[in-house]
Amino acid sequence: ELKRIRNDVGSQLALMECKPRHNTVDTPTLFWAGIPGNEADFPAEESFYTFLGQALCLFVEETNYKSSLSPFGIKMVDRVSGRPLHIDISDLPMKKGITTNRNKFILGPSGSGKSFFTNHMVRQYYEQGAHVLLVDTGNSYLGLSQLIHNRTHGEDGIYFTYTNENPIAFNPFYVEDGVFDIEKKESIKTLILTLWKRDDEAPKRSEEVALSNAVSAYIDLIGKDSSVTPCFNTFYEFVRDDYRRQLEQKNVREKDFDINNFLNVLEPYYRGGEYDYLLNSDKELDLLHKRFIVFELDNIKDHKILFPVTTIIIMEAFINKMRKLKGIRKLILIEEAWKAIASANMADYIKYLYKTVRKYFGEAIVVTQEVEDIISSPIVKESIINNSDCKILLDQRKYLNKFDSIQNLLGLTDKERSQILSINMANHPGRKYKEVFFSLGGTQSAVYATEVSLEEYYTYTTEESEKMELFALAEKLDGNLELAIKRLAESKRNPQSSTT
Ligand SMILES: Nc1ncnc2c1ncn2[C@@H]1O[C@H](COP(=O)(O)OP(=O)(O)OP(=O)(O)O)[C@@H](O)[C@H]1O
Ligand SMILES: [Mg+2]
Repeated sequence: ELKRIRNDVGSQLALMECKPRHNTVDTPTLFWAGIPGNEADFPAEESFYTFLGQALCLFVEETNYKSSLSPFGIKMVDRVSGRPLHIDISDLPMKKGITTNRNKFILGPSGSGKSFFTNHMVRQYYEQGAHVLLVDTGNSYLGLSQLIHNRTHGEDGIYFTYTNENPIAFNPFYVEDGVFDIEKKESIKTLILTLWKRDDEAPKRSEEVALSNAVSAYIDLIGKDSSVTPCFNTFYEFVRDDYRRQLEQKNVREKDFDINNFLNVLEPYYRGGEYDYLLNSDKELDLLHKRFIVFELDNIKDHKILFPVTTIIIMEAFINKMRKLKGIRKLILIEEAWKAIASANMADYIKYLYKTVRKYFGEAIVVTQEVEDIISSPIVKESIINNSDCKILLDQRKYLNKFDSIQNLLGLTDKERSQILSINMANHPGRKYKEVFFSLGGTQSAVYATEVSLEEYYTYTTEESEKMELFALAEKLDGNLELAIKRLAESKRNPQSSTT
């Protein structure tokens, strides 16, 4: 019997890639020392120094995951025990000096649960008072947005879809209080620079200066002359007429600022141009007082001009919002759309966004599945990855053959690598969840499970058939999505008692 047990234990340990050492000499002493209370008798020659991780590696049933003391956070689940945990990946790490910003970079292949997790996260941020702005191309936030819309009686949960009849339009020159501070000027300048230099040529110093002066002079003008309606049209006219004259007086050379080229490139945004509606909106979108806003850009995601420009003006609107809402948490989450804006020129804009976000109690979150794109783009690395202290990775098994370059790119340690590769490898068969890896400032990392109620599941799922089932049911219930979610979840929990 003893022999069988010895063999069993030995082979189980070997399965865990541990090498068992079978003691024969001091067995009685070891047995004695193994009795609780006798550890002081453990023979010194049998002990050695090691790291905590190794020393505790057999305590698999006990993670030391604890709920955070921070009042702010999200609900995750201990992957081993299934116990709910409250964790803070925004404020406390900042306070402790583990991170220097709240930005997040989320990476995972298609279907790994990125949108599901982000739904789960932004919903909880929203419920704790944050302003949430999402830019999406896959209708992943429709359920949550509608739910909020219904709950707030249409006050919040605003969903903008880009359509030809009803395109998303802004007016970057409009400010509610008529005050243009340095940040606002900078933001307008960067926006126009980005539209002007869409390709990968960097602007010259002299061009930047000329544009900066033009923006300042135009702002002076609209401050003094109320007959000039602030919008891109009048800005364009100002540059074309007044500013051109000023440049001539100052003898600015064409090679320092080619005004004709400038006007030419920006003409599509001016009255009569193909995109003249984009920057001349007379209706101001009220983004300031809405806390949950989704921009759905699927219709234009392959459009070479509209997609990046719309993304930029959304970001611009966000920056504007950020400056106004002092002391309130706000986040912008961009799914895939960052690809359109990750050119050399836009990189400055992204950098600017990230820098500004940090200063105004905000966070920028980029979600992506395109590992090739991030690996091949130094811009993305510099502006997005290096400025996101929180990295969130989902199941990477599909990328196993490229994982070395991902590890390299994100600067992950070997320990983090094995944590990531352990995701979803030994999930509890009776529970429905997916695991997520968080790394904070490159110093703290852990894997948690995103495990939600059936109600939350039906709100967040992106599975086409499930979404259709849900929305069809909601339609039958006079558009009451919340009731539809309740009914559907109930019918899955108790298939017999279902009445719908
Ligand atoms: N934590 C979870 N618990 C249960 N099911 C989940 C979880 N996360 C994801 N799923 C399931 O996986 C599906 C796909 O997830 P999700 O849409 O989040 O993937 P994704 O990474 O955003 O993919 P894509 O890149 O294609 O948008 C969901 O519809 C849901 O059914
Ligand atoms: Mg998704």
